[in-house]
Amino acid sequence: MKRRVFLIAMSAAGCLLSAGCTPTPQQTSDAGGPPAPVGSGGGAPAKKFVIGMSQCNLGEPWRVQMNKDIEAAAKAHPNEIQMVFKDAQNKSETQQAQVREFVQQGVDLIIISPRESRPLTKPVEEAMDAKIPVIVLDRSVETENYTCFIGADNQRIGREAGKYAAKLLGGKGSVVELKGLQTSKPGLDRHNGFLEGIKDTQIKVVFDPDCQWLEGKARDEMASALARFPGDGDIDLVYGHNDPSAHGAYMAARQEGKGREKKIRFVGIDALPHEGVKYVKDGLFAATFQYPTGGAEAIDTALKVLKGEKVEKNVVLGTKIFTPENAEKGGEAL
Ligand code: FRU
Repeated sequence: MKRRVFLIAMSAAGCLLSAGCTPTPQQTSDAGGPPAPVGSGGGAPAKKFVIGMSQCNLGEPWRVQMNKDIEAAAKAHPNEIQMVFKDAQNKSETQQAQVREFVQQGVDLIIISPRESRPLTKPVEEAMDAKIPVIVLDRSVETENYTCFIGADNQRIGREAGKYAAKLLGGKGSVVELKGLQTSKPGLDRHNGFLEGIKDTQIKVVFDPDCQWLEGKARDEMASALARFPGDGDIDLVYGHNDPSAHGAYMAARQEGKGREKKIRFVGIDALPHEGVKYVKDGLFAATFQYPTGGAEAIDTALKVLKGEKVEKNVVLGTKIFTPENAEKGGEAL
């Protein structure tokens, strides 16, 4: 067992706290039970817990931020935990394989931010069955068999976005909704929540493609929307399920060359300081809603689990709205 822990520690050391590292199989091939807890071993150097972090992609700024938040929180416990990061590069199959690799390597705990709900459900269950605790971050899976889920309430954020759109438009108008991946829970919840938020209004969603959270796809879809609804006032507001989507739409409107980017209101979600909040401050967006990464909370929870303390099964994170009126003051909690 000691050898196994040593091997994992060595393989992790090379990529300690660095995103995108994939240990090679021979570095982690030994089998065995869980490593001894921190501080045990009577005089021997304390062993670190190895935490495997499975990130669905690092192509989007919000995910880069999540890994940074995890890194920063883990760095506060250098003698207790060692991080190993894997990046699934936006492929569910790759992420399935990477979670299974963590299980084979016998890491002490897995944190996963899954790309899609269904395909990642089984690997999470397999880890739990192998007695490896799993913290699911931001996008949920379709099982109750996990240790803890941490994320904001996407349905509520969608609803708040709907209510804000209704307020901006005085209760009537045409909206283009650029949806996030509809096989992921936040995409579904942000859609359903928005419809709730505009329920008793005369706002119509005239176009709502699945842009899979991707700025490039949102830009292309918005170009189609602009061609399909060419008149001034045909599109009053764009609701992007994330800031990259809303920004892609803004860029498409600007590129059209008719000045419609100044008339259409753009609303997004994520509110990273250097992304969505900046777009609000720069006058591109009418609003963005904060979607906290949960990285720090994941490390706090992981430490508790590893020390045998009880944790909440579901941790719901809060949100904030950033508008041109409040962005300089740090937004407003909802
Ligand atoms: C990044 C991202 C964020 C979004 C979150 C939803 O991959 O698309 O922009 O808020 O995932 O899970």
